[in-house]
Amino acid sequence: MCGIVGYTGPSQAAPILLDGLRRLEYRGYDSAGVVVQSGGELKMVKARGSVAHLAGLTGGGRELEGVCGLAHTRWATHGAPTDTNAHPHLSEHGLFAVVHNGIIENFAALRSELEAEGIVFRSKTDTEVVAHLLEKYYDGDLKRAVMRTVSRLEGSYVLGVVCSKEPGRLFCVKEAGPLILGLGVGENYFASDVTALVARTKNVIYMEDGEFAELTAERVTVYDRTGREVTKSVSHVVWDIEAAEKGGYEHFMMKEIMEQPRAVKNTVEPRIRSGRIAFEDFSLTRAELEGYNKIVITACGSAYHAGVVGKYVIEGLCRIPVETELASELRYRDPIIDGHTLLIVISQSGETADTIAAMRECMSRGARCLAIVNVVGSTIARLADNVIYTHAGPEISVATTKGYTTQLAALYLFAVWAAELLGRVDAGRYAQLVDSLLELPRLVQRAIDLNVHVKYLAERWHGQQSLFFIGRNIDYAVAMEGSLKLKEISYIHSEAYAAGELKHGTIALIDEKRLVVALCCQDGLFDKMVSNVQEVKARGAKVLGVAPEGNRRIFAEADDVLFAPRGEQLFAALPEIVPLQLFAYYVARENGCSIDKPRNLAKSVTVE
Ligand code: AGP
Repeated sequence: MCGIVGYTGPSQAAPILLDGLRRLEYRGYDSAGVVVQSGGELKMVKARGSVAHLAGLTGGGRELEGVCGLAHTRWATHGAPTDTNAHPHLSEHGLFAVVHNGIIENFAALRSELEAEGIVFRSKTDTEVVAHLLEKYYDGDLKRAVMRTVSRLEGSYVLGVVCSKEPGRLFCVKEAGPLILGLGVGENYFASDVTALVARTKNVIYMEDGEFAELTAERVTVYDRTGREVTKSVSHVVWDIEAAEKGGYEHFMMKEIMEQPRAVKNTVEPRIRSGRIAFEDFSLTRAELEGYNKIVITACGSAYHAGVVGKYVIEGLCRIPVETELASELRYRDPIIDGHTLLIVISQSGETADTIAAMRECMSRGARCLAIVNVVGSTIARLADNVIYTHAGPEISVATTKGYTTQLAALYLFAVWAAELLGRVDAGRYAQLVDSLLELPRLVQRAIDLNVHVKYLAERWHGQQSLFFIGRNIDYAVAMEGSLKLKEISYIHSEAYAAGELKHGTIALIDEKRLVVALCCQDGLFDKMVSNVQEVKARGAKVLGVAPEGNRRIFAEADDVLFAPRGEQLFAALPEIVPLQLFAYYVARENGCSIDKPRNLAKSVTVE
């Protein structure tokens, strides 16, 4: 996510703004910028790169004289990470500067309208339309100009606004993204989260969607969507700086688990308009799809596990053969791949060396490539023929959670889109699947709410030396991810196994020392899973069952139970992984592990 900071008061603004940006760096970003009011003008410096680089360009902010301004760290969504695309963005005559966090979904239409009026755009961003609209609507009444501009926007937008003709005045707007006001003594602030403010003030106001605020050094006024002033309560922040960087959570991993409903929503909803799925900048046609005789999905780690889920869903809906390949194997396997192969590459970072190498190998053999990536402008995103970005926002914890679930969401979107394009689903089933996609954010939140007891299960099982995660069909793919989550943050050995395969040898390992996590969420296979549960219990194992919400039979079979909310069976993996993420987190926490930075691991494996 982007980071926003605003300041107005008696002090030089730029050094304060840069310090605020430093405290937002953990959010991840690719460029940064700062603007201050100075001598009746707006003085701005922005660049691709780090906050330290920006500070170097401005003498630590001292070379930008002014007591009122904005600053921004950009997590690119529209437009590659470049100096020009960095925020702030200026209006045509430099009257306004704007910083933005979110996605303006109707920016293309607004851009066309403004270009038709002669406006010349400098950047590729969605944000720039806001600066030009402000200048278009400004007639001396700054509040009115802000309201008229915001009334034209659709999507998610947290904005900071400064005008060269309004000394000491700032406006900020909140719609579908975090925004907090900071109340100082003779100075005031706003920021994307508490981190940027808590060193300067602990008295904050949490804004609500639809509200906007006017700040001067002496006063903060909050308005509702209609422009009527509203009274807001002032909260006192109790966090220290370190905790605040995690938004109050003890670990980034838990913060990112809790962010999953919004991350999935941000990935799915912008692609569904009037009941139909559409991808931005997509060149895959029906004729091309019909020309593929197979799809190969390649990735590493959790991204690979997402691909295995994708295999079941794409084959189930599109009836195209799908192979899943570990990238580190595919790259050296002399694979049978040609122009009739669609390669789907999945990567949160977009920089994983094995995945890039496998991608280059397959593309050199003629495969067309669709990438599912979280980091805009990353190597994999730039190499691919088509990209579906997961709008998970920056993921700090090495163990991926929202990265994985948004990859699943992107795979589901693609599978339904392709199935409809190929005529494999009728209008009724298509509409049903689209509704199920829109239901996913609620199901993820339900999966969190259903499993508040998981913390206590972890207290019971955290001493296990070895676990098995077993499942069938899509549950087997989920078992792979559940097993990896536990292993990589708690260092407890675990293994995912196809439940029907256990009896062919591995069941020799099952004894009273084993905990078996049995995933039983595929309705049509529940009875088969009950048999597998009975098999392992007969040999002394304890069983932690994962079953659909409302299933009562599981209590007769398992020693403990986790629940997954009911929804479209094909999409069951997405909510089902959530209790397993929480289980891994609490087990690791019980064992005092370094959850966000596990030993031996890196967030992005950019080497072989
Ligand atoms: C998962 O929790 C790990 N962080 C790791 O398996 C990761 O999924 C893998 O390294 C692939 O990374 P990528 O998605 O950035 O390509």
